[in-house]
Amino acid sequence: MNIHALLVSRFSEALTEMGIEDAPIPVSRSARPEFGEYQFNGAMALAKKLKQKPRDIADNIVNTVKLSDIADKLEVAGPGFINVHLSDAWLANQCELALHDPRLGVAKAPQKTVVVDYSSPNLAKEMHVGHLRTTIIGDAVVKVLEFLGHKVIRQNHMGDWGTQFGMLLAHLSDKLEHEMAETALSDLEDFYREAKIRFDEEESFADRAREYVVRLQSGDKQCLALWEKFIDISITHSEEVYDKLNVSLTRDDIMGESAYNHDLANVVADLKDKGIAEEDQGAQVVFIPELADKEGNPAVYIVQKSGGGYLYATTDLAAMRYRSQTLDADRTLILTDARQALHFKQTEIVGRKAGFMQDTQTYEHCPFGMMLGSDGKPFKTRSGGTVKLVELLDEAVERARSLLAERDTDLSAEELDDVARIVGIGAVKYADLNKNRTTDYMFSWDSMLSFEGNTAPYLQYAYTRVRSLFRKSGMGLDNLPCDITLTEKQEHALAVQLMQFEEVVGTVSRDATPHVLCTYLYDVASAFMTFYEACPILKPGTKDAVKHSRLALSALVSRTLKQGLTLLGIETLEKM
Ligand code: ARG
Repeated sequence: MNIHALLVSRFSEALTEMGIEDAPIPVSRSARPEFGEYQFNGAMALAKKLKQKPRDIADNIVNTVKLSDIADKLEVAGPGFINVHLSDAWLANQCELALHDPRLGVAKAPQKTVVVDYSSPNLAKEMHVGHLRTTIIGDAVVKVLEFLGHKVIRQNHMGDWGTQFGMLLAHLSDKLEHEMAETALSDLEDFYREAKIRFDEEESFADRAREYVVRLQSGDKQCLALWEKFIDISITHSEEVYDKLNVSLTRDDIMGESAYNHDLANVVADLKDKGIAEEDQGAQVVFIPELADKEGNPAVYIVQKSGGGYLYATTDLAAMRYRSQTLDADRTLILTDARQALHFKQTEIVGRKAGFMQDTQTYEHCPFGMMLGSDGKPFKTRSGGTVKLVELLDEAVERARSLLAERDTDLSAEELDDVARIVGIGAVKYADLNKNRTTDYMFSWDSMLSFEGNTAPYLQYAYTRVRSLFRKSGMGLDNLPCDITLTEKQEHALAVQLMQFEEVVGTVSRDATPHVLCTYLYDVASAFMTFYEACPILKPGTKDAVKHSRLALSALVSRTLKQGLTLLGIETLEKM
C-alpha cells in the first residue's frame, strides 16, 4: 500500500472533476499528528492561477475529493492546507492485508533494467575502508530494487588493468622463483609497497616493469597468465570481505576495467569520427564548454594520452556504451565517493554527445562522503596507514562479543559466536547505511555498537523483543487470528508507520538512499515501543479480541523490521 500515491491519485481525480487540468498535486506527510497524517498543499498555488481565495478552493476540493473510505476527517487549515486524517478502520484493514501478503502489501513497480556499479575495488591493492561505503550502500540499493521487481545487473567495475600492473607483474615473476603465488600475494599492501620501492630505486626493474606493460597490452600469453594469477588471488581477497559482510556480489558480477580493453580504441575512433574528440599536444581530448571555468576555458577531458595509453575516462565511456546498448539499461547507477563527481559529470556529457546513451536512459552517479576518524580526518590506522577492511570487520565482531558478554544473557558459547558476528557486522554496515550518504561521517565504535539510538543493535534487539512476545504468548505467526481493531492513538500511530513501508522503499529505489529506510525502521521500532508501553497485550484481564489484534499488529512489526533489515543486508536474531 502506497498511501501517498493513493492520495495523489484521489486529489488528482478531484481536480479533474473540478475542471482543473495539469496542476501539480503536492501531497506530503503532516508535521504533527494533530494535522492528520498527510496534507494536500496545492490550494495556494491554484488560487494564484485561478484568481480565487485559497481557502475557497480548499473547501471546494474537500467537497469534491473522494476519500470517505480512507479518511474519517478532512479539514482546511491555515492559509488553505487540507489535512487528511486516516481512519482507524481503513488502516486496520490495510494492516490485515499486509499481514496476509508475503510482500507485506508492497506492490511491484513497472519493471526497469537497472545496472548498479558498486564496490569496484582496485585489485592491485587490498580492499580498504574507502570501498566499504560503496559495497554496503550499493548492496542495499540492489536489494531494494530487486524487491520492487526490477531487473538488476550488478557490475563490479574492478580496477584490474593499467600501467601499475607492469611493476606488479615484474615483481611477481621474480618472487615466483622461490615461492607460491598465494604466499607472495598473501598481503597485497606489502606486495604493492615492495614493488613500488623497487620501481623507484632499481633502474633495471623499472625498465622491466615498463616492458611488462607493453607485453600485457599486446596480449603476450605468458604475461597474461601471470596477470590472471594475480587477479585471481586478489579477487579471492575481496571475496573474503564480501563473505564477512554478507554482500550479494559474486564472481559473475565482475566486469572489471580489463573487460573494456578491446573497445577503447573504438571509443576514441568513434569520438574522433563524430568530431567530438580532437588532438591536442599529441593527446586525444574532448573540450567541454558546458563545464568551463571562470575565465571561460572549457574543461579538458582526455581520452587518450600522448603516448597512446588510455585512461579511466576512456574505460568509463566504453562501460557506458556497453551498459546502455548491450545490457539495455534504463538506469545506470554508479556508487563512488564524491571526489569522482566531476569525472562522471564529464563522462555523461561526452557520452551523450557521442550517442552512447539514449535520452530516456539515465546515468546516475550516486556520490558519498568520506569515512572520517574521531579526529575528523580521513579514517586511518594509528600509524597513518589505510585500514584494511578484513581487520576492521574482525575487530567489530570482537567488540560486539565483549559487549554482549557483559550483558545478562543465557546464550551458549556457540550462540554467542553467532550473535557477536551478526551484531558486529550489522553495526558496521548499519552505521554506514543510516547516514545520508552525501555527507562525510565519523567512524565511532561506541555509537555504532550502542543498544540505544538509531543503530543495528537497537533494531536487532527490538526485533528479538517482538519475537519473545510471541514466544510468551504461545502463538506463532502462522496460527494468529488477525482481526485488527485500532482504538488507541498509539495503535493508530503504529499502523500508519507500518503502512508507509512501500512509500519508503520507493524513495530508496528512486534516490539510492538507504538511510531513508534506516530512519523508517527506527521509527517503526520506536512506535512499537511506545505502543507496547501503552497498550497491554499479555496482561491478565486483557480481552482475547484485543490481545489478538495487538499481537497481529506486533506480528506485522516483526515482519516489517525483518524485511527492512534484510533489504539493508542486516541479519536478525530470534534472541540475543
Ligand atoms: N575502482 C574505482 C575506485 O576504486 C571505482 C570504480 C567505479 N566505477 C566506475 N565505473 N568508474 O575508485
